[in-house]
Amino acid sequence: MTNKNLKKILVLDELCPPYDQIKVLESGILLVKEPGVLEVDQLISRVKQDPLIKGIICSLTQKINEKVFQELPQIEVISNIAVGLNNIDLEAAKKYGVRIAHTPKVLSDATADLAWALLLGGSRRLAEGDRLARSGEWKGWAVNQLLGPSLGFTENIDQNLGQKRLGIIGLGQIGQAIARRAQGFNLDVCYYNRTRYVELEQSYSWGFMDLDELLMQSDYIILAVALAPETYHLLNRTRLNLMKPNAYLVNVGRGPLLDEEALIDCLESGHLSGAALDVYEYEPNIPERLRALSQVTLSPHLGSATFETRQAMSRLVIESAESIIQGKEPCGYFAI
Ligand code: DGY
Repeated sequence: MTNKNLKKILVLDELCPPYDQIKVLESGILLVKEPGVLEVDQLISRVKQDPLIKGIICSLTQKINEKVFQELPQIEVISNIAVGLNNIDLEAAKKYGVRIAHTPKVLSDATADLAWALLLGGSRRLAEGDRLARSGEWKGWAVNQLLGPSLGFTENIDQNLGQKRLGIIGLGQIGQAIARRAQGFNLDVCYYNRTRYVELEQSYSWGFMDLDELLMQSDYIILAVALAPETYHLLNRTRLNLMKPNAYLVNVGRGPLLDEEALIDCLESGHLSGAALDVYEYEPNIPERLRALSQVTLSPHLGSATFETRQAMSRLVIESAESIIQGKEPCGYFAI
């Protein structure tokens, strides 16, 4: 027996328990699953087979291009398990009138925590230390062993040591959460962002700089900006070369925000003291030259990977897709 009023949401990829069940939601909408990311043509033919599918939940690795919107007029909403929407053609979504939901806010703290974990752990060479400690080769404490830069000083231990500067590129919600966490470190915090936040500057003593100035003046730089056509290779070779000698770079945004090959050159030449990366230009491929650099800490895109955050993201993507399909007041966060 078929229920003519039944509507379905196709869930590509995993959701976090308890939202990982194949089930009928309270609204009567059925969640159906596919085991993973699909090629665009596979996705189109899968959805075409089932006209009851009205929404898609997908992750940031699922490409959703204009063809998807063009070929699938039955789709009313796409709900992306990420804040970043660079996997989706937003202009096409607008053109075909499809709502696009995502998961901002709930992941800002987790991602800011990871940015700091990378900055602290990377610059203080924790991964290298871990490898040494496990290797059986460690000969004990040594004055010159695995030194990294000091972040800041609450006491003036040496008059030659000035205050260090953290430059944050992108002062959205993640960037702001990163900046707020800097307060305990006695760092001078500056930021670059398309929009200026004068009130935040005043409340927290954050300074605004234009991008090139920030690169020239910061000891640590964290990239936390969204990837869009205008931010592709925002840190190109010329900009990377503007960075202070011995500066340290962290990327928790998206890989293509920087020219990865140029970054490797800067690291190999010793211009930058190191980098800690959560995202890569051709994810999940990480170039051999990058993997060979011991001063680089590599993390496999873990920005939002906490139990609580992934659970909240899973709940949100379902709720927002459901609200659109039910024709209710949209709930959740929508880019379109
Ligand atoms: C995002 O939401 O864009 C994150 O990268 C997911 O972890």
